Amino acid sequence: MKYRPFGKLDWQASALGFGCMRLPTLGDDSGAIDETLAVPMLHRAIDAGVNYIDTAWAYHREQSEVFVGKALSGGYRERVHLATKLPSWLITTRADMDRFLDTQLERLQTDHLDFYLLHTLNARFWQNYKDLNVFDWAERKMAEGKFRYLGFSFHDTYEVFEDILNGYDNWTFCQIQYNYMDINYQAGQKGLHAAADKGLAVIVMEPLRGGRLAKNPPPPAVAQVFARSNRDWTPANWALQWVWNQPEVSLLLSGMSTMEQVEQNLVSADNSNPGSLTREDLAVIDQARQARESLAPVPCTHCEYCLPCPSGVAIPSVFEIYNTALMYDERQRGQNAYKNDIPDENKADCCVECGTCETLCPQHIEIIAWLKKSHAYLTQTGE
Ligand SMILES: NC(=O)c1ccc[n+]([C@@H]2O[C@H](COP(=O)([O-])OP(=O)(O)OC[C@H]3O[C@@H](n4cnc5c(N)ncnc54)[C@H](OP(=O)(O)O)[C@@H]3O)[C@@H](O)[C@H]2O)c1
Repeated sequence: MKYRPFGKLDWQASALGFGCMRLPTLGDDSGAIDETLAVPMLHRAIDAGVNYIDTAWAYHREQSEVFVGKALSGGYRERVHLATKLPSWLITTRADMDRFLDTQLERLQTDHLDFYLLHTLNARFWQNYKDLNVFDWAERKMAEGKFRYLGFSFHDTYEVFEDILNGYDNWTFCQIQYNYMDINYQAGQKGLHAAADKGLAVIVMEPLRGGRLAKNPPPPAVAQVFARSNRDWTPANWALQWVWNQPEVSLLLSGMSTMEQVEQNLVSADNSNPGSLTREDLAVIDQARQARESLAPVPCTHCEYCLPCPSGVAIPSVFEIYNTALMYDERQRGQNAYKNDIPDENKADCCVECGTCETLCPQHIEIIAWLKKSHAYLTQTGE
């Protein structure tokens, strides 16, 4: 295993951390973790040198922490740094914070956590935590020995990220979504550098974009790019090595769901080194990114000039779901996102073809026509 500096701490983190959000399950019930598979996977990773385990209140319908507690008993707890997260969306009082933390310690069968994160910070949760003075609470809990270091995981715009970074002086670390497709998404590369410059350890989550970048074979346009390189790497290894190549990254978390993935990612981690990718390798990744982006048909950049739509259509969000579904060949997932994430009054079929949006779009996108195509693709079966 390779180890890397962890911000300002006098401790080195394993390049690969184990994310306990995508463990194998018995059937489709995410709450039914298949312990006969998952325990050996976690133990194998730790035996091979993984020393950072990430879980959260909500993962696997609240069963991940319980599982981790069991799996780490019998000597494994002492060999790792354990992280879990305060479920930000459930916090309305400081008493809530006490209650969740105490229950988490119980579920995890430990008297302390090494790392505690404010989970999935966005502008709204951040404001709520500031109103509740979470820092004062956290400092008390750290003084009591309930957890050692405070950090946050993040899902919002770069501007919000910067605000959070500068809003508290004692962050030890942060966790951001980052992979070769998400350089300019959420915190992105700018956020990675800003956090590292302030001395925070940066943990990368979703390095494979939740598995999408690991599909093997990848779409033909991407497969051709990888085939032209002189490396015999899997799509997963390309994506992971790209993250590890960056010295600002302390570790990456992978949510491994099979033993085979654990074994492969352990080998990848062993072969990782900051700055080890060649110029040719980086060009391959750039081309793979472009090849994937070329599969997205609507050239929407999310500038939102088209908003507000007089009929309420969430134009950029509809296009994002449509583009993503086509880019990763995931129609069903796109249909679920469209159904669940876009309220009916904001769906594309609310368009009355007034054309206001088309006069405002700097990309000159034929929005009306694309909205019709998006709605059909995201609601109908077949072509
Ligand atoms: N806001 C937050 O705090 C937050 C949000 C997201 C994630 N996280 C944490 O970050 C961790 C990492 O994120 P992630 O799980 O999305 O990571 P990821 O590495 O992007 O995706 C994991 C998925 O990639 C696939 N995979 C992994 N290794 C592979 C390999 N060698 N070959 C082929 N496929 C492979 C598997 O998909 P299949 O199962 O489809 O095979 C696996 O479930 C999570 O587990 C969680 O602990 C935190």
